[in-house]
This record gives sequence, structure tokens and C-alpha cells, in this order.
Amino acid sequence: MKSLDHLKMEITELFPDGTSINSKGHFEIGDVDLVDLANQYGTPLYIYDENTIKNICYEFIHSFRKYWKDTHILYAAKAFINKPLAQLMMSENLGLDIVSGGELAVAQSVQFPPSSIYFHGNNKSKDEISMALDYKIGRFVVDNFAEIELLTELCQKKNVVQDVLLRLSPGIDAHTHVKTTTGILDSKFGFSIVTGDAMDAVSSILKSKNLNLIGFHCHLGSPIFELEPYKLGIESMMEFISSTITMGVDFKEFSPGGGFAIRYLKTDKPPQVESYAKMIVETIVKECSKYDMSVPKIVIESGRAIVGRAGVALYRVGSTKDIPNVRKYVSLDGGMGDNIRPSLYGSKYQPYLVNRVAESDSEKVTLSGKFCESGDILVEEAVLPQLHEGDLIALPASGAYSPAMASNYNLNPKPPIVLITKNGTSKLIRKGETYEDLMSFDVL
Ligand SMILES: Cc1ncc(COP(=O)(O)O)c(C=O)c1O
Repeated sequence: MKSLDHLKMEITELFPDGTSINSKGHFEIGDVDLVDLANQYGTPLYIYDENTIKNICYEFIHSFRKYWKDTHILYAAKAFINKPLAQLMMSENLGLDIVSGGELAVAQSVQFPPSSIYFHGNNKSKDEISMALDYKIGRFVVDNFAEIELLTELCQKKNVVQDVLLRLSPGIDAHTHVKTTTGILDSKFGFSIVTGDAMDAVSSILKSKNLNLIGFHCHLGSPIFELEPYKLGIESMMEFISSTITMGVDFKEFSPGGGFAIRYLKTDKPPQVESYAKMIVETIVKECSKYDMSVPKIVIESGRAIVGRAGVALYRVGSTKDIPNVRKYVSLDGGMGDNIRPSLYGSKYQPYLVNRVAESDSEKVTLSGKFCESGDILVEEAVLPQLHEGDLIALPASGAYSPAMASNYNLNPKPPIVLITKNGTSKLIRKGETYEDLMSFDVL
């Protein structure tokens, strides 16, 4: 048997707040037994914990405001958004970073305050830009020359002046997976400082009567486990920004983006939110003083760190294939359709047996998904107790970029999502898809 005290310590930083082990030897979150949830809603199942999201929002707001009062925390909707989540972020006083008309539509449906919406993206369409202008969103984060032209043209037509930030590419490697690094020269995002594009973009926006350049943005990548890349990125940006002031830029806002890391494995050691805040704010203040600029409003946009740990994926064990001296595959009832991250980026997760949590680990297995790809592996080397058909496996830290990137590959319906509410009950916040849903767009 495992030491429960040790296990309880281990799960505190991987699972949502209030996760514990009940008298039946099951995991529960806020008094809700995960085995009961799996029986009630079926598996795969995604579970989010409201309390944890609220606590993390509070932690972000207070950590950054401790160092700089004029800070605005945005939730990066791409990590996962639907109507209830948008409502929750609104009630926690977060703004919203959106990247598509779809994310904007969700925001509009809950009357998210337009002034705290920031529109990102490297290829915003005419329709998306029009929709956002009509909703009078606060800021466009302008990414490229074509967007400057298109946005100017649409603003002229609608006779509006739009506040914009310029997305810079500062040429800093944040040491993330190559598919999630965005601040280097070879990136599709933003205006490079080194090539001179960023300076040309400033000149071009300053000439536009319909665009009001109020600040600068960058996002280095995700997840960033070190503090140093933020320091280097901010230093590079501030040097550039200081040279734009004499051109007439009224520097009122600065955003170093998001990318804050969370713990996926027991061995991961991400910095505390407070440490990111200290490094970011102190660097901004120091650099502003160096170039004799007033410290602007700071805008932070975090996705993974706000909902990642609040979400848990639950799967049921199905078939097993043991290849002597090679590997034992244990198949789960989900996989790359609900969580593409392991196949796409080689992301790693720490799996736990949910229905007999205290049982000792006894074998190394590969947790495979049910999708028709050999690469559909959720956890390559999982050390777990002996598993049997029907057992329940939890993957903690599954709240960000899993349901958000889910697909219907092999025509598997996307799983339901439940929210454990602050009074310790659960409610469905997205229905599981049915086969009818899967065919509902087909035209015979
Ligand atoms: C521009 C921008 N801001 C913020 C984020 C959020 O990153 P994270 O979820 O790691 O905080 C992303 C993620 O891709 C991004 O592209």
C-alpha cells in the first residue's frame, strides 16, 4: 500500500485544490467522488474545478498588482473557452484574449465587456475584424502589414478610430517545444525587431488616421519554465520602444504575453506566479527608468496557468496487450481525439488510478488511446498498480489545450465536461456529443 500522507502531498500541486482521498479509497474533488462522476456522466470525462480557477485568478491578480497596481490580467481563451467558462472569467474580473470569430461569438453571447477584449492572430479575416469592430472591442493586437491595411480600410468604412498594440517578435528563444515557440526570428507571428519590420510597422500605423497605437506586445511561447526569457524579451522590446517615442508613440500599454508553466509531472518545477510577476514587473520598471519612459499599464495574458491544473481527464481502462520483453499496452477509452498534446508535442502527463488510489505501483505500462494511429499514446511510461478492465485513470493538469484542441477523428464524439462548483456539487457545462451531433452538418 502507498503512504497516503505522501500521496496527498504529491497530488496537491498536480490536481485541483480540494482534491483528497475518501474512505472508499477514491479520489474526490471538493467532496465529489470521481468514481461517481464517471458512473454518472460516462468516460472519457473532463472535470473542471471552479474553486481552483477562482483561486488562480485571484493569485494572478494579486501577485502582479503587488508589484504594479495598473495591471490587467486577461484569460487566453485558446486554452479552453465555452459560455460558462467565459462567464466565470468575467465574474473574476479578467479580460479576454481572443484569436477568432468563434471565441468572440462566445464572449458576445455572455455580454463579455468589449473594452477588455484583445484580438490576436496572424491572419484575422475581414469578417472577423468587422465583427470585432462592431462589438467595439478594446484592442486589436496587430500582427502584420496586411492587417494594418485591412484594419485601416474597415475602420475608415465604419468611421471609427481603433486602439491597437503592435505584436513584436523580439528574437528570444524561450526554450519551449519547437512547435510552441513564438518569439524567435523564424516565427509566423509578429513584427521582427531585427529585420526592421517592427519600425516600418510603427511608421505605417502612425500615418493611419484610424489606428491609435497605444502600446506593444509579445508572446515568447509556452510553457516557459524559466524566468530569464521574460527578462531578455522585455529588455529587447523596451530598447526598441524607446526609439519609437520620438516618432510620436504614446506608450500606454505593455504586454509580455503569457506562457506561464504548470506542473504536469511530479518532477516539474515551474516558478510560482509571484516569481513571474516579480521578474516581469521589475524588468519593466527598470527598463522604463533606463530609457526615461513612464511605466505603462501592464497586460498579462495567461491561459494554461489559469485552467490547466483546474482540469482533470478521466478515462476507463479497456483492452490490454502484453508483448513480452517489449511493452504492455493498456488501452483507454479516449486519446488523441480529446487530447492531442502527447502526439503533437510529446507532452507528458502523470497518470493516477482513481478507484484504488492507495494500491502500490507494480508495473510499467503504456497508456494508449482508442484512435487508429500508432502514435495515439497518452502516457508512454506509466508506473501504476496492476490495471484491470473498468479501472479509472485520471490525468491531472488536463484543463488547458485538451478539450480546446479536441477533434472528431474516427468519428468519436467529444466528451462531456463537468464543473465542480464551489458548494461541492457538479454540473454539466458541456454535453457529450451524440452520433446524431456528428452527422448534424452532413447534407445528403
Ligand atoms: C499571443 C498569446 N498570448 C497568450 C497565450 C497563452 O499562452 P499560455 O496558455 O501558455 O499562457 C498564447 C498561447 O499560444 C498566445 O499565442
